[in-house]
Amino acid sequence: MKVLEERIRQDGRILSNTVLKVDSFLNHQVDTTLVLEIGREFARIFGGRPITKVLTIEASGIQFAMAASIALGVPFVYAKKKKAVTQEGEVYSAPVHSFTRGESYLVSISRQYLGPDDKVLIVDDFLATGAALVCLADIVQESGAELLGVGCVIEKSFQEGRGLLEERGIEVHALARIASMAPGEIVFIGNEAV
Ligand code: G4P
Ligand code: NA
Ligand code: NA
Repeated sequence: MKVLEERIRQDGRILSNTVLKVDSFLNHQVDTTLVLEIGREFARIFGGRPITKVLTIEASGIQFAMAASIALGVPFVYAKKKKAVTQEGEVYSAPVHSFTRGESYLVSISRQYLGPDDKVLIVDDFLATGAALVCLADIVQESGAELLGVGCVIEKSFQEGRGLLEERGIEVHALARIASMAPGEIVFIGNEAV
């Protein structure tokens, strides 16, 4: 997505060879015009599929899932992160270890909002190590819903997330794919033909 790549070049801050800050337009302060465009792009890529629900994880996946759900005309659900043990039975839950934060947390989704009748598109901001996304995919599988794809706004292709998802037979699309980066320099992989 050209406009997104240009914006990342212009306003992204590369903190190291692995961390890209997009706080000024995507993750903290939010450019809603761009976010709605991102939602329409996800709908363009995945809209041919019979999606019933968009799924993401709090916090910074929410605005993109909402934009995709508006464009697709279906509800979205966001998984919650908790440190404490949740109500057994009422929720699907699975542990995630966050490599960037160096801590583990529980991801949970109420059983009311995901089940065998659902066909799910997972959306998130970053595809990095894939830890959170693999966890969401596992929960979708446990619920009996069908996972129709994963859409990420920014993929750091030099990390292992895409491989972990594709290993499970999951189709992944990212709107901006970063091959490599260093302060002052960012290399994108050419747009996927879809
Ligand atoms: P992931 O690939 O499944 O997202 O898992 P990972 O453990 O690698 O990433 C942990 C958190 O760090 C995720 O946010 C992810 O979105 C974020 N992240 C990973 N790489 C970058 C990066 O280069 N820049 C920025 N800004 N964030 C990155 P999270 O734990 O889900 O937290 P939240 O921010 O959504 O609340
Ligand atoms: Na995230
Ligand atoms: Na994040």
